[in-house]
Amino acid sequence: MKNISLNIDKVTGFVTREQIEAFKPQVEAAQKALEEGTLPGNDSLGWLHLPSSIGSEFIGQLKAVAETLRSKCEVVVVAGIGGSYLGARAVIEALSNNFAALLPANGPRVIFAGHNISEDYLSELMAYLKGKKFGVINISKSGTTTETALAFRLLKKQCEEQWGKAEASEVIVAITDAVKGAARVTADKEGYKSFIIPDNVGGRFSVLTPVGLLPIAVAGYDIEALVSGAQQMEKDCSPAVPFEQNIAAMYAATRNALYANGKKIEILVNYQPKLHFTSEWWKQLYGESEGKDHKGIFPASVDFSTDLHSMGQWIQDGERTIFETVLSIEKPNSSLLVPCDDENLDGLNFLAGKHVDEVNKMAELGTQLAHVDGGVPNMRISIPELNEYYIGQLIYFFEIACGISGYVLGVNPFNQPGVEDYKRNMFALLDKPGYEEQSKAIRARL
Ligand code: PA5
Repeated sequence: MKNISLNIDKVTGFVTREQIEAFKPQVEAAQKALEEGTLPGNDSLGWLHLPSSIGSEFIGQLKAVAETLRSKCEVVVVAGIGGSYLGARAVIEALSNNFAALLPANGPRVIFAGHNISEDYLSELMAYLKGKKFGVINISKSGTTTETALAFRLLKKQCEEQWGKAEASEVIVAITDAVKGAARVTADKEGYKSFIIPDNVGGRFSVLTPVGLLPIAVAGYDIEALVSGAQQMEKDCSPAVPFEQNIAAMYAATRNALYANGKKIEILVNYQPKLHFTSEWWKQLYGESEGKDHKGIFPASVDFSTDLHSMGQWIQDGERTIFETVLSIEKPNSSLLVPCDDENLDGLNFLAGKHVDEVNKMAELGTQLAHVDGGVPNMRISIPELNEYYIGQLIYFFEIACGISGYVLGVNPFNQPGVEDYKRNMFALLDKPGYEEQSKAIRARL
């Protein structure tokens, strides 16, 4: 069976193979540090050998709970934010039909909440759920995140009003810490089914824990195949695989070589609208892992060819501080030919009989060459097709490459001290008990 692959040929006009290979010692040291847990962040390495540790019994438990929600609910709301949200959404959207978005056949509609504090979003959600048989998966590692806790408070109330308290407790599932946090306290008190987020797996590395696996299973997708793809990459990206053949090592080395040569922004490019949230997940993974100590490649993303008509000009011709990494899907899941038209008023008969995907691929190749000519280095990650197995491969590939790349950059890729600052200010402005001093200080600055 084929695997995902990495092609860096269109980078070497900007940094040489030698410049990339110069990172080999640092990459190997990073791989060793990950394996041996010798660098800061070593208490958060539970994701490293997670795929190979997932057994069929655990998958069976997840599938059983998913089946209960699937059989009882028309809609399942997944409440979570950041690492407790983006992985599940990325996978579900990548696998779902574009026009039945998040609506697989014969199962509940999976929708998301707890990732914003919009009054309109939440009241429209409550109105949408009115009268529907809905369930909730409440996901929060800390169990105290404001966005998620606020949404869950509203969802719990409405769920209990619509089902009755006893039945509601059968369709609410918690995924949280084993002992601490409000989500754990509530789950234990109300008797919800619950799954644990391991202490040593940070949010943005948690998609292969119940955080991602349960919502994906509820949406009707094959979590065994997803895990099996991740297991394959765990083998293929292990330190035992030589640098030149190890796509995670090569990706980490190449992006660090580009960064050292002034390319400060990485744009993840897709040519499939379904991959929009894969990019959102990737941006969190790399942004929160590497953006520290006033260092780090800025992760951006575009959906092509759509954004060629908005961002294309900047990419072709703007400041030359960017490089692109393209997610290229080799084979579409559907088949559609461009029809012939007798009048040919649109002049498109030269495309008649071709697959739409061939047009898309030529847009991809033409864009790659134009951007390289315009001074934008270009890497390509080829994915044989969009299915659970290859998405599992992609997830683990990006995770391990991120751990390696962060250590090569010289930061701790597994903490996120910067995300606490806005919370302190928000709590002070909302007069949360305990924030009286900060409240006075911050109000004086407004
Ligand atoms: O990656 C992270 O650590 C964050 O994005 C968290 O996942 C996010 O802030 C949500 O936190 P929690 O799961 O504690 O509610």
